[in-house]
Amino acid sequence: TDDIVIAASILSADFAKLGEEVRAVDQAGADWIHIDIMDGHFVPNITMGPNVVKAIRPYTKKPFDVHLMIAPCDPYLADFAEAGADMVTVHAEAGPHLDRSVQLIRSLGMKAGVALTPSTPESALEYVFDKLHRVLVMTVNPGFGGQSFIPEQLNKIRAIRQMIGDRPIHLEVDGGVHLQTAPLAAEAGADVFVSGSGVFDGGDYAGNIAALRKAAMS
Ligand code: DX5
Ligand code: ZN
Repeated sequence: TDDIVIAASILSADFAKLGEEVRAVDQAGADWIHIDIMDGHFVPNITMGPNVVKAIRPYTKKPFDVHLMIAPCDPYLADFAEAGADMVTVHAEAGPHLDRSVQLIRSLGMKAGVALTPSTPESALEYVFDKLHRVLVMTVNPGFGGQSFIPEQLNKIRAIRQMIGDRPIHLEVDGGVHLQTAPLAAEAGADVFVSGSGVFDGGDYAGNIAALRKAAMS
């Protein structure tokens, strides 16, 4: 359907020319720019912060989909809003006060998402569900690009699609999304497909995005 969203994860971009890379995936047809923020504490890798998000903001008008893999996250939410984030996703595992984080994201005028690592069940969403604009199911353990899709997560995607029902909530799949796995995630109910290595590897961004979109619609 036309409702398929391809979110290009710039984790796999060339960080030495990040602005150009953002412009390139925009022109290549990416719907959203997915930005992975890692702190070396919640996940075993460090990437970038609000200053970098702000620096690349002028390079595209496409929505910035900011995936926070940091703990705590609340002290930085206003900085990401000011940097130009349109939507912010926080991890259910990042702290005991998920509802507060979700409310804070919304109060800053951004769309709110909650991400689940592979070991977290969908039930973690229950009491914040009606405040969400989207749910992100991690199909790898967060921290790195280029890992293999964990197929057991398809059951979780299916269960969350059921929970969503008629609500206008996006269901995003992130990690190991390639031509072979995108159709499985789509069949299970995902409608937003995050891809880093699948978009950037080989350098043909437009071809990669078109192929991924086709796979997600098949
Ligand atoms: C991983 C990040 C992903 C990552 C996906 O922790 O959340 O967004 O960029 O990379 P690929 O698509 O290469 O698995
Ligand atoms: Zn991500």
